[in-house]
Order: sequence, then structure tokens, then C-alpha cells
Amino acid sequence: MEEEILETRESKYKKNKKKGHSKMTVIIVVLLILIALTFIYMRYIATFGFIVKEYNVTSEKLPESFNGFKIAHLSDIHYASMGKEKLDKVVEEVNIMKPDLIVFTGDLYDRFSNLTDDMKEKIIDSLSKLEAPFGKYAVSGNHDYEHDGYQEIIEKCGFTYLSNESNLIYNNGNTPIEIVGYPSIINDTPDYNISLSDNYKIGLIHEGDAFDNIENKDFNLVLAGHSHGGQVRLPIIGSIKFMLPDYAKKYSEEYYKVNNTQIYISYGLGESEFYIRAFNKPSFNFYRLYNK
Ligand SMILES: [Fe+2]
Repeated sequence: MEEEILETRESKYKKNKKKGHSKMTVIIVVLLILIALTFIYMRYIATFGFIVKEYNVTSEKLPESFNGFKIAHLSDIHYASMGKEKLDKVVEEVNIMKPDLIVFTGDLYDRFSNLTDDMKEKIIDSLSKLEAPFGKYAVSGNHDYEHDGYQEIIEKCGFTYLSNESNLIYNNGNTPIEIVGYPSIINDTPDYNISLSDNYKIGLIHEGDAFDNIENKDFNLVLAGHSHGGQVRLPIIGSIKFMLPDYAKKYSEEYYKVNNTQIYISYGLGESEFYIRAFNKPSFNFYRLYNK
């Protein structure tokens, strides 16, 4: 009799232990599935395709002859993360929108990946098809110093490389606008003291936080990249601060206005380091300038 009671107790204990084990197994399996789904979303779904962010930019300083002027702003391509097929689609979309001017604010490459001759040729083949009657202008990003020949490649793509330089752009009028480009503050030595005109001025920088150095230069429009919007963003919260790179701690979001300067930060077309995003589609920006 006693033996029977002992046996029953033992089997109950084993059953409970088994139940506990199977519960734990279910929890672990569910967690693994959730982690796998999150990874699939961030790596493949959130990075898939791209969107165009369109903005109307108004300034009384803009000459009448530039009213309605259209600018396509590409940034942070990080070629290794996207490949030729996607880059060709971006080029096609930009050309469909018929911009007057195209700017690129750096990070054509990625320092965490190789850059082969074949990749260089593919980049040139794609980007040289970008069309803009008033030209294409580029500055360097911090990653562009990790491989050789950035200036050569970007120029072969038909871009004017601006490194502490500016150009005046005329449009059938006497009053031009000025486009100014500074190289990466992380891997180069920008000269923020180059002399500038008093015209409507567009500044190109890679790292948004470099804006602090040109805050008093009376720019009307400053375009930058680098932050990738944090790559991984959370609903309501937005970017996760510690994930933002250096020099994108202050100016990391889409838009700022400081005195008379409007600042737009592109969240980029590619990804760096971990090829992931969340709630932050790859994108390029498209501006329409108006003078009233
Ligand atoms: Fe970047």
C-alpha cells in the first residue's frame, strides 16, 4: 500500500516536471520564432525598396528665375548594402522625377565591405545615367575615405566634386544661386572659412553636426546625410540615441530650422555595419524650391 502511494507521488512529480519542461520549451520556441521574424523584418523587409520624401522649400531669398527649381538629394548609398539592381531603380526613379539639380552627400562605399573593380564599374554605370540639366554635385562621406578613388569615381559618374569649393548656378537670370560643398568632418579637414557670395546658398555636408561650423554663414538650405535616421527606429520614440553615429547626435532627424537656414537630413538609401533597418525605409529626398 505504502509503495503504491510512493509510486503515485513519484509519477505525479514526473508529470509536473514534464509539464514544466514542455511549457519552457514552448516559451523558448516562441521566443526564437519572434527573434527570427524580427531579424527577417529588419534585414530583408525594412531594407527592401525605397521611398521618395518630397518637400517644398520656401525662401524669399530665392531668385525669381529659380521658382519651382527641383533638387534630388541622394545620400549614404553604401553600395555593398544595396547592389546594382536597386541602385538602377533609384536612378530610374530620380530621372522620372526630372530634377533640375542632383546632389549626393556622401558615403558611396562602406568601410565594412570590399570595393572591387567590378563594383566600381557597376557604380559608374548606374550613377552616370542620372540626369539633371543644372548639374550633379557631390561631397565626401566618412566611409568614402576607407577605399581609394572616391573623387575619381564620383567624377566619372558625372558629378562635380565639391571639397571646400563652391559653384554659382545661373538660370536665365542675373541672380545666380550658390552651391557649396565641404568634405567629411570625420576623415578630412573641412575649411569652413572659404569665402561665399551673398546669393541664395545651398550647403552640402555629410555629417549633420558639422552644421555648427557653418551656422553663421547665412546658408538658406543645408543638405546632409550620415545619420541614416538611426537605421533602427521605434514607433513614437524614433531613433535610438546610442545607435546614432558620432557627428549625427545633434542633427539626426529629417528637418531643422536654425535662424534662416533650413536643414534637411536624408535617412539614406543604403545601410552600414549591420544591414538592418526598422520603421525607416531607405529613401532619397526631393525638394521643390519656391520664393514665396
Ligand atoms: Fe552613411
